[in-house]
Amino acid sequence: MIRDYIATTLGGLESVTAQELETLGATDIEAGARMVRFRGEVSLLYKVCFTARTILRVLEPLASFQIQNERDLYWKTMDLPWRKVLGPDQTFAITGVINSRLFPHTNYPSLVVKDALCDRIRKDIGRRPDVDRDEPDVRINLHIFEDQVDILLDAVGSSMHMRGYRRYQGLAPLNEVLAAGLVKLTGWTPEIPLWDPMCGSGTILTEAAEWAIGRPSQIRRGRFSFQGWPDYEPGIWRQIKLTEKETTVPEGLEIFGSDENEEVIDGARKNIRGVGLGEIIMTEVCDFFSLTPPGKPVMLIMNPPYDEKIPLESAEEFYKKIGDKLKQDFVGSTAWILSANKQAMRQIGLQSAQRFPVFNGPLPAEFCQYDLF
Ligand SMILES: C[S@@+](CC[C@H](N)C(=O)[O-])C[C@H]1O[C@@H](n2cnc3c(N)ncnc32)[C@H](O)[C@@H]1O
Repeated sequence: MIRDYIATTLGGLESVTAQELETLGATDIEAGARMVRFRGEVSLLYKVCFTARTILRVLEPLASFQIQNERDLYWKTMDLPWRKVLGPDQTFAITGVINSRLFPHTNYPSLVVKDALCDRIRKDIGRRPDVDRDEPDVRINLHIFEDQVDILLDAVGSSMHMRGYRRYQGLAPLNEVLAAGLVKLTGWTPEIPLWDPMCGSGTILTEAAEWAIGRPSQIRRGRFSFQGWPDYEPGIWRQIKLTEKETTVPEGLEIFGSDENEEVIDGARKNIRGVGLGEIIMTEVCDFFSLTPPGKPVMLIMNPPYDEKIPLESAEEFYKKIGDKLKQDFVGSTAWILSANKQAMRQIGLQSAQRFPVFNGPLPAEFCQYDLF
């Protein structure tokens, strides 16, 4: 049966998330703000949850209605077919995103929904399910914007950016979903040598390598929320896990990372070797400004300090030096730079070929492409 789903993502990545969903076989794809709607069979849902790199969560809409007051929320929620969603022996948790004048206390609507669903199941079966905030069988998302209520089921569990490979965090690590999204925005393909000369904990390198070898993003996740749903199909899930397997390493794959900080590179190496990528990603301790030129065109993807978490003596001077180094030693290459320091970015002194606005956590940032002729 074909169903509707919503993939949530980070601001600025909606287009690559839509592309990723299309590649995975989704239909009726429609991008919105930080989310993409799509449709597909349950096998597609499992595939998306297991493999997608640019998605934070996958949600299945359960109900959408309008309310006038709290009693309305209770009765309309009570009317929903909760027995199809969870049984009395299962646990659940509700996460609320509330932005409504009807509810000055933002925790309150989740309690109303909890009472309504427990009362419904108790009325139908004689027993009610329990709440488990940490490891619930079923995760319910409640969104209320003014009088509009949306109730959705979370198919994944904890956010998909938690890949389980980054035991060492570095100085200012990128969100893994953002790193994957940046790689996709560049249009990089595995036959192009990829360099991150300020690689920190190695997030960009690891996302690119795992993508190139076809490794599912959630390979290290123990359990998905959809496995607690009453309509869970273990046979289809087993099949997805069997077919969505790593392929061989593409010929000529070259992924290289460096950082001036020895401790940081030590940590990046631990992360990389910890997931069996030590033979694929080469790393080196090196100041970017002393890096030996590659002698061939490469794609640089870098995330220099912004003078926020990592202070710089002079951000303008630092970015000017980055521009000079690129012009001098990387002729024929393409450089992509992510930064939230717009003032400093102007000092690079190169004309950008493309600019993508993205959010790095709360910081509005720009991801710019420079073709180094
Ligand atoms: C924002 S962090 C990069 C974070 C990385 N993308 C990650 O996910 O962990 C910037 C990195 O640039 C490195 N760095 C700063 N100045 C450098 C330089 N001159 N040469 C090489 N690396 C430098 C820092 O040590 C830091 O690890």
